[in-house]
Amino acid sequence: GRPSLLPFRGIYVMQGIFKEETLMELEHFDVLHDDVFIISYPKSGTNWMQVLMRLVYAEGDHKCLEGVASWEKTPWLELQKSKVLQLSRPRIITSHFPHRLAPHALQEGSAKVIYVARNPKDIIVSLYHFCKNALFMEMPKDFQSFLEVFIDGKVLMGSWFEHIQGWMECKHPQLLYVMYEDMTKDLPAVVRRMCTFLGKTLTEVQIESVVKHSSFTAMKNNPMTNFSKAEKLFEDNIKFFRKGKVGDWKNHFTVAQSEWFDAVYQERTVGLGLDFTWD
Ligand code: PPS
Repeated sequence: GRPSLLPFRGIYVMQGIFKEETLMELEHFDVLHDDVFIISYPKSGTNWMQVLMRLVYAEGDHKCLEGVASWEKTPWLELQKSKVLQLSRPRIITSHFPHRLAPHALQEGSAKVIYVARNPKDIIVSLYHFCKNALFMEMPKDFQSFLEVFIDGKVLMGSWFEHIQGWMECKHPQLLYVMYEDMTKDLPAVVRRMCTFLGKTLTEVQIESVVKHSSFTAMKNNPMTNFSKAEKLFEDNIKFFRKGKVGDWKNHFTVAQSEWFDAVYQERTVGLGLDFTWD
């Protein structure tokens, strides 16, 4: 049988994988002024942003992706704290934590944060398939019950609505918002925004190289980014790279499910100024 999720201060984490001591300490994590955090709700394009960041810092040189697995270079704070402490500066640190549980220093704006957001219908579909594939996740019964559980916030990292609200309301100059849909539509433009934010100057040729080596196909085929070299976490590790598209929710939601979700979404995102592309 698969393990069930463990409740932790209003969110849910993976049993046996997360350590409560680490989670308890996160709020007081010692953030350095030159740290750069990638923050996202699961399935929003985290792995893609991790690779993009490393390519930007390497000025498009794809050799930066060789030799060491991606998840070791941009570790998750809540999962790989000892790896984080071994990073050389500037550290790129990933986290799926909601704003209220994140390091206080980040809430105060003492280091740069890139928040990656994705339209929640595609997140639901991506997470649904992820849960079916990941050996450490509860197997969803069917799409309808998964949708109910998601709306209830009883999924990995808790409520998407809480996550997006917390990070959207925390606008400060050290926070850059990046949409998965924009990455799909015009990645060079997103890379240019990242460069400005990070204080990096890349030539157009270097930006082209960043775009090329972070494509869905490139990442799916690269053993350092595709989890084929990771321990067996999934029934099929490579299936992590599922579709990488905007609008796959249309192949999963019925009209009734879509209307129900839209109503909840309208009510729970009032005033956040969200402007997702849904297809
Ligand atoms: S996780 O487990 O929370 O870290 O997952 P995360 O990386 O945030 O999201 C996984 C989804 O992102 C897609 N993906 C990409 N899309 C486009 N281009 C690139 N390079 C890319 N890399 C990952 C991945 O396929 C998951 O989305 P779905 O819709 O399931 O395909």
